[in-house]
Amino acid sequence: MTQPIRIAPSVLAADFAKLGQEVRDVTAAGADWIHLDVMDGHFVPNISFGPDVIKSLRSYTDATFDCHLMIAPVDDYLEAFAKAGCDRITIHAEAGPHLHRSLQTVRHLGKKVGVTLNPATPLSVFENVLDDIDLMLIMSVNPGFGGQKFIPAMADKIAAAKSLIGDRPIDLEVDGGVTIETAAMIGKAGANVLVAGSAIFKGGSVEAYTSAITALRTAAEGQSK
Ligand code: DX5
Ligand code: ZN
Repeated sequence: MTQPIRIAPSVLAADFAKLGQEVRDVTAAGADWIHLDVMDGHFVPNISFGPDVIKSLRSYTDATFDCHLMIAPVDDYLEAFAKAGCDRITIHAEAGPHLHRSLQTVRHLGKKVGVTLNPATPLSVFENVLDDIDLMLIMSVNPGFGGQKFIPAMADKIAAAKSLIGDRPIDLEVDGGVTIETAAMIGKAGANVLVAGSAIFKGGSVEAYTSAITALRTAAEGQSK
C-alpha cells in the first residue's frame, strides 16, 4: 500500500520564544504534520517540553500533532499527551518492558499508534506488534538533539522496514538528519513521512519554510515507490 508523502517539521529547531507563531508559519508553509519531540533528560540526554506546552500550541494549527515521546517510563504520561491534543503518539520500544501494553494504551486513548527504535535496535522488535500500530518510525540519528548527520546504515534499515510492513496501511517515518540532500534516498528506501527540524527552521521565515518543505516533498516524491 502506498502512503502519501508527508513532511513533518520538528519544532525542536524552531524559536521556542515564539513557538505558537512558528507552528502557525510552518503550517502556512505547507507542513502536513507538526512533529513534537518530547525529551526527559533521562531516556535521552536533553530536555525539551511536555504536555502543557503542546496544549498551548494546539490552537495555532489544525495540522496533525505527531508526538515523539523520548521519555521513560512512558505509560503514566500517555493520557496527558492525548489530552494535550496529540493526534499520533509514538513510543520508543526501548522505553519500557511492556511495549504491547503501552501501544494498547495509546489505542484506547483514541490516538494513532506509533513505535520507534534507536539506530542500534534491530527491526525484529517490530515483528510482534505489526498489527497494533499505525506508524513505524526509524530513528536515523541517536535521539536527543537536532542537527545531527543521517547515519548511512539506516538507509538499509528503512528499506527492510518497508518490506516488513508489506501491504499493511502503516506509515513509515524517518527522523534525524533529513535534508534536501538525504530526502531522495529516504523516499527511495520506502519512507513516506519525513521529519525535518534544522533543514526547515534554519530559514527563519515563512518563505524559507515553504521552499524547504516543497524541496523535501519533491525530492521524496520523485523517488517514492
Ligand atoms: C531527535 C529528534 C528529531 C530532531 C530532528 O531526537 O527526534 O526530531 O529534531 O532534527 P534534525 O532534522 O535537525 O536532524
Ligand atoms: Zn523526533
